[in-house]
Amino acid sequence: MTNFLWGAATSPHQVEGNNVNSDWWKRERDFPEMFDRSGDADDSYHRFAEDMRLLADAGLNSYRFGIEWARIEPVPGHISRAELQHYRRMIDTAFELGLTPVVTLQHFTVPLWFSHEGGWLADTAIERWRSYVEATTEILHDVPWIVTINEPNILALMWLLDDALATHGIEGLNLSAGAQTLASVVPDEGISLRLIEAHHAAREVLKSRVGGNVGWTVANQSFERTPGNEELYSTIKYAWEDRFLEASRDDDFIGVQAYTSQQIDANGIVAHPPNPDNTLAGWAYRPDAIGIALRNSADVTGGVPALITENGIATADDERRIAYTSVALEHVAAAMVDGIDVRGYLHWSALDNFEWGNWKPTFGLIAVDRSTFVRTPKPSLAWLGGMARNGPPSA
Ligand code: BGC
Repeated sequence: MTNFLWGAATSPHQVEGNNVNSDWWKRERDFPEMFDRSGDADDSYHRFAEDMRLLADAGLNSYRFGIEWARIEPVPGHISRAELQHYRRMIDTAFELGLTPVVTLQHFTVPLWFSHEGGWLADTAIERWRSYVEATTEILHDVPWIVTINEPNILALMWLLDDALATHGIEGLNLSAGAQTLASVVPDEGISLRLIEAHHAAREVLKSRVGGNVGWTVANQSFERTPGNEELYSTIKYAWEDRFLEASRDDDFIGVQAYTSQQIDANGIVAHPPNPDNTLAGWAYRPDAIGIALRNSADVTGGVPALITENGIATADDERRIAYTSVALEHVAAAMVDGIDVRGYLHWSALDNFEWGNWKPTFGLIAVDRSTFVRTPKPSLAWLGGMARNGPPSA
């Protein structure tokens, strides 16, 4: 028996549906030219047990999901007991099915009221966030893995996007560039530092009240340097990810997330040129990215244990998903052989879901019919379950 975690991940806004009190719901409503609506999403809010059972039946032993702040605290200071109990039922269901729950407390979305108060930069932000985290501890006593904030670096980029929308309106943005635009800029320092403060505040609350491992997740762009541009490479890598990794040195684990890799040249981050080989997210096909990310995370955190909390590919071709993941796992195994402490592999994503304004990039091991909500597992789910049955990734 091994306790290596083999699982899949989702986030509340992307799968639950009708997250009406959140900032993202408003963004989708306000900028329909830019964002598809999340709507009912996958209705996983009601169908979570079915989703978890599919993962468990396939042979996986873990599920990463999130708790939605906008549901727990729909207006400031009002904690919904019923919603807390809803998420407790999710935790219980995971345990009953033999799935180790990995629970995220904040995955890009915040309550609309929090955003109206000024979001993460408001004077009250840390106090508000801390009191939400305190409320969640009531249901987290036996959860072994808790992620405070998902990808603070991408959250900081979303802040820039919001700012640009507020300043220039929709016309000021290059919409066709989409995710590409985000991947070519650098997270804002002020918001980055505030998110680090928030992570540390949450960690303090959690460590004093519950027993699980506490960490956060970082989006790794798995940057590659080009000759002569080492200094710019280090500066960008620091602002993009190393700043957040350094802030994890006293955590119990670091959540490693990687999908692709980008070069840094004399002008900064090189956009992925259009290429037939690119994934449906417009990213270069780089199954080696997770290996680069694991090594950089271990290096910068000083060897904090890694949990791969996301890795996967947006594709309509499930064989390609298996091919990508199989090579990614070889890179995970190689990193482990080199001594990197990896505690688990959670694939992104369990379900095809709402990819932040776009339904087209399908990352799921399970397809979902968005009118009937019927779930159809793809061959990659059984394949990943088979890998799980063989123990930790091996070289
Ligand atoms: C996020 C997910 C997202 C995935 C694919 C990560 O940035 O945590 O919410 O769906 O990457 O883009």
